[in-house]
Amino acid sequence: MRETLLLTDDEVKQILEMPRVLDAVEEAFREKGLGRVQMPPKVYIFYNKYEGDLRVMPSYLEGLDISAVKVVNVHPRNASMYGLPTVMAVVLLVDPKSGFPISIMSGSWLTAMRTGAAGGVAAKYLARKDSEVLAFVGAGTQAKTQLIALKHTLRNIKVINVYDVVESSSKSFANHAVELIDGATVNVCRTPREAVEGADIVVTTTPSRQPVVMSSWIKPGVHINCIGADAPGKEELDPEILVKAKVVVDDMEQAIHSGEVNVPIAKGVFRKEQIYGELGEIVAGLKRGRDSRDEITIFTSTGLAIQDAVTAWLTYNEARSRGLGKLIRLVC
Ligand SMILES: NC(=O)c1ccc[n+]([C@@H]2O[C@H](COP(=O)([O-])OP(=O)(O)OC[C@H]3O[C@@H](n4cnc5c(N)ncnc54)[C@H](O)[C@@H]3O)[C@@H](O)[C@H]2O)c1
Repeated sequence: MRETLLLTDDEVKQILEMPRVLDAVEEAFREKGLGRVQMPPKVYIFYNKYEGDLRVMPSYLEGLDISAVKVVNVHPRNASMYGLPTVMAVVLLVDPKSGFPISIMSGSWLTAMRTGAAGGVAAKYLARKDSEVLAFVGAGTQAKTQLIALKHTLRNIKVINVYDVVESSSKSFANHAVELIDGATVNVCRTPREAVEGADIVVTTTPSRQPVVMSSWIKPGVHINCIGADAPGKEELDPEILVKAKVVVDDMEQAIHSGEVNVPIAKGVFRKEQIYGELGEIVAGLKRGRDSRDEITIFTSTGLAIQDAVTAWLTYNEARSRGLGKLIRLVC
């Protein structure tokens, strides 16, 4: 009898630990760098009258024989209007041999963890190893998992600055940071400038459609993880920063369509030829990561379906070995 494993968000939360997600996501980027994945760009539906969208994200990692499809929304007004998270998702894990649906799992926490892991992998290859001061602009769900990943990537986090337009979100993030990073000084800032000035690593996780971090605030040698811009029209950085930085994307096509570079390219103030390369190429050893202490590096993440697939595979195997979830006879 063939059964499909159902996993709730709580069960996924019990299972996923950042070090293993970091390893899985790094491997997924390597596979992409080596050209061993099938991953058509995300397909979007825009619910303009509700300020939200829906994306479908299929992928197949041929070398690892892992395949999945994620359906995910982004509705930034959800918390205030409906008491729901901005991002919710469902992942369908498929057996490539037969197409059988092995598992259907909540992808909400999974998305936050795999997005955090992408930021962690980017920092591993692009940030200065001695980075000590972190700045977070935007302090919601993604910001929290970005910090969890950086905790496992950096040796010595000393200061964490946070700014969010909603002060209670900054405070909730600050509590999370105090619990997570022993001995770090955590500052709730009144402006994004106060958070960013003097930082070694800047992490942006807002749904903004205009720059929230300005070029004059950042110092040489900074690494920036831009996570929020993942749909056309979204941007978080002053384009002047892109011009003077080594810009690394997760996927060339998705980034040009919907990543941090999409608005500057559309406006003609940045050219796609100025993009240095994809993170997978660096992880696979085909391109260099950081070249000098003073170089400004940017990772712009749109979020890849292969990150979801490997994280779902990890979740499924761990759930089976722990006896978690509910098996149902869904098809056949
Ligand atoms: N790159 C990826 O793989 C990926 C994955 C998931 C989500 N995202 C994107 O990341 C963003 C955040 O997602 P989330 O799940 O953390 O949402 P969230 O609603 O939990 O958090 C977003 C936070 O940003 C704050 N904010 C909004 N505008 C701001 C501004 N101008 N300055 C400072 N703070 C501001 C909000 O108050 C909120 O606290 C969204 O744009 C989402 O589409 C990207």
